[in-house]
Amino acid sequence: MTPPDSRAWQWLATLGAVTDEPPGLTRTFLSPALARAKDLVAGWMREIGLTVYEDAGANLIGRWEAPDPAAATLVCGSHLDTVRNAGRFDGALGIITGLLAVERAIARGPRHHLEVVAFSDEEGVRFQTTYLGSRAFVDRLGPVERAAVDRAGVSVAAALAAHRPDFPPPPPRRFRAYVEAHIEQGPVLEAENLSLGVVTAIAGQTRARVVLTGEAGHAGTTPMRMRRDALAGAAECITLIESRARAGDGVVATVGQLEIASAASNVIPGTVWFTVDVRDARNVVRQKFCRELFAEIETLASRRGLAVRIEIPLAAPAVPCSPALTAQLAAIVGRRQPRCPQLVSGAGHDAVALSEAMEVAMLFVRCRAGLSHHPNEFAAEADITAAIDVLADFLAECPA
Ligand code: HGY
Ligand code: MN
Ligand code: MN
Repeated sequence: MTPPDSRAWQWLATLGAVTDEPPGLTRTFLSPALARAKDLVAGWMREIGLTVYEDAGANLIGRWEAPDPAAATLVCGSHLDTVRNAGRFDGALGIITGLLAVERAIARGPRHHLEVVAFSDEEGVRFQTTYLGSRAFVDRLGPVERAAVDRAGVSVAAALAAHRPDFPPPPPRRFRAYVEAHIEQGPVLEAENLSLGVVTAIAGQTRARVVLTGEAGHAGTTPMRMRRDALAGAAECITLIESRARAGDGVVATVGQLEIASAASNVIPGTVWFTVDVRDARNVVRQKFCRELFAEIETLASRRGLAVRIEIPLAAPAVPCSPALTAQLAAIVGRRQPRCPQLVSGAGHDAVALSEAMEVAMLFVRCRAGLSHHPNEFAAEADITAAIDVLADFLAECPA
């Protein structure tokens, strides 16, 4: 294995300090911190000899042209945005390993044009519609996603229209495939004491927003039997969601956000909304789980005299990775470790959106305790170096 390239660790540390919400790490779609992060990455792209572009989805693209103008383009990278109070490896690791792998691959004269992409929004924190950047990258940002609005009532379309790109648009090009390195965000590689694994499929996900409306009232004068308490109703929904998922055979469900309108300690909550995030690699299982859960929530709300509205801003199907490219990636990993685990990703990735326009493959990198979406997220320098080595071989050797 080649010695660690100190730039990987330095760039991860530098990027990890670019935030909208210090001391935590938060970068959301078209935020000031995302703009500063893009400037940093654009500088690193130029440093390794790439031409920098920006597309209509505000994705940053570093491109190297192969001698054959008719060649297809091989894409790597990941997302530059983060969740709130994030770790510094989710997304950034795929961009930085991609940069250093492309630099290594160029020296070996690859047959494809190469691109490293820093996608502008994968987590969906601002608009709750994940893959905004990567959907735009493959020209599949539809009217529903473009109409999504943030807390300030600004739509995706308006935010993009107001954005002034800092770089020229990329040239028209034909894509060969997309390969993404990403921390595993799970415990398997650590348990098997291995640096790297490959991904066979990416779980589907449904993101819903449930709005419960009862009646606000005086906490001291309203008898319990006369209340329509939206928060008590939400609490019953949340335990129902957890118990249904626990009783299932692998589906996972999470309530990550909850808000009370006009909250006050002496007011009965009149209106409450909360999010539901449901994942499973089997589309039929996820869809059946959601259908039955939402029906039970409606029954529960009706029993409590609450009005209920269930919005579904995202329903992304599970995506298989390319068997051929995944086998090639696994063979390259096998040059460096005794075996290559084949994993299903419970997390979503930009590869989901790109799979609509090209073959995709994913390389997983061991992360400590499988922890992610947390400031203590961590990947070891040696494992990152191994990922750069494997990516460089893949980019240099990928068949036409
Ligand atoms: O939520 C996810 O699965 C990913 O981190 N966007
Ligand atoms: Mn990610
Ligand atoms: Mn993430």
